[in-house]
Amino acid sequence: MSAKLSQAARDRIAELFTHYPPEHKRAALLPILHVVQEEIGYIPVELEEEIAGLVGVPVVKVKEVLSFYTWFRQQPVGKYHFQVCRTLSCSLRGHREILAYLENKLGIKAGETSADGRYTISTVECLASCETAPMMQLNEKYIDHLTPEKIDEILAGLP
Ligand code: FES
Repeated sequence: MSAKLSQAARDRIAELFTHYPPEHKRAALLPILHVVQEEIGYIPVELEEEIAGLVGVPVVKVKEVLSFYTWFRQQPVGKYHFQVCRTLSCSLRGHREILAYLENKLGIKAGETSADGRYTISTVECLASCETAPMMQLNEKYIDHLTPEKIDEILAGLP
């Protein structure tokens, strides 16, 4: 199935371009990717060419940006997306145990989505909250000082 943007998303993108002089329209790349991800939930590969064309860069540039920023997803994710930080501070403060606990509770491994589409677990690089390690991002929210008990609380509180 090929992903399509709604007219509302296209209107938002058109409006974004009014913020940049035409010779700097490539600066709209990141905001456009945010619009697409908000609309579809991830950045479908079939839209990369179109996005590159809009901002006037080669498609490889869009791919580079997508692989650099873990914020952008290249695959669909579950309703609840757990992004566990695996960088140094979180690693030193037990990210492996937290990740293993979460994987065990949800019955999926990092990089997987549950069969019912409810949960996805990813590991990501530093989320810039090292002082509150170990931490993760659950959808838009940062959750820090993680412990197994805190994971239980979080899971029990999900609608
Ligand atoms: S190392 Fe995990 S937030 Fe920085």
